Amino acid sequence: MAAALEKRLMTEPFFSVRNVVKRFAGLVAVDNVSFDVSRGEIVSIIGPNGAGKTTLFNLLTGQLAPNSGEVRLNGALINNLPPDQRAKLGLGRTFQIAKPLIALTVIENTMMGAFLRYPGLRASEKRALAILEQVGLADRANVRASELTLSERRRLEVSRALALEPQLLLLDKVMAGLNPSEVTESIALFRRLHDTGLTILLIEHNLKVVRAFSERVIVLDHGAKIAEGDATTILSTPAVVTAYVGTRKRA
Ligand SMILES: Nc1ncnc2c1ncn2[C@@H]1O[C@H](COP(=O)(O)OP(=O)(O)OP(=O)(O)O)[C@@H](O)[C@H]1O
Ligand SMILES: [Mg+2]
Repeated sequence: MAAALEKRLMTEPFFSVRNVVKRFAGLVAVDNVSFDVSRGEIVSIIGPNGAGKTTLFNLLTGQLAPNSGEVRLNGALINNLPPDQRAKLGLGRTFQIAKPLIALTVIENTMMGAFLRYPGLRASEKRALAILEQVGLADRANVRASELTLSERRRLEVSRALALEPQLLLLDKVMAGLNPSEVTESIALFRRLHDTGLTILLIEHNLKVVRAFSERVIVLDHGAKIAEGDATTILSTPAVVTAYVGTRKRA
């Protein structure tokens, strides 16, 4: 069994998306999208508003089921599993519209995620505090989520995802609306997380951020993947400039 598993891990991509399609009434929100992510990569997904980026994330993490196509993690088919089971297998995500439990404190919100791997109260609290330290929120641990600034809410969203101890972290515009120094701090945080071995897939509008990571960029337009490659090449491709920069809006 060990040999078979080892062989599969060596030959199968870490995360693979094949021909996923999502239709809403008459609209094809995600149109036959395929790509792979290798363990340890940082991959950015860009595209104009309404391109289908968040819908694609929802197909990957289980908030929505695709009409067709496959999503695999370590070779195992996961596209029929609900979000909690995908989290158990190693997917953690943030939401573009943050969903903290606003009556709970920062540490309680983080513990909700930490319970997945640390079922005891003390153990989950300890783990949650370590994560808050990592993201720079430890001094706000006992503040209610409703009292946080925008930048702190974004970091809480990241804490909740990290608390699941994901193998693959999916970030949906976590830096939107932040000021330049907060963006710089966030880039440093994701670099540190990446250095610990975390694989990251991020939806990002800020080209400075995309360039800062720059490993690989996927461009969506009208639901379809129109380009994929390294940031420098992709961001100077005329079709991408037309689709993306030409219609760019904030956040
Ligand atoms: N639940 C839904 N029902 C119907 N249409 C939807 C639903 N969710 C998204 N859409 C539509 O699907 C398309 C893609 O939306 P999506 O939110 O995935 O875009 P996006 O690339 O994340 O945009 P943004 O950059 O503004 O966040 C849009 O036309 C949107 O209106
Ligand atoms: Mg979106």
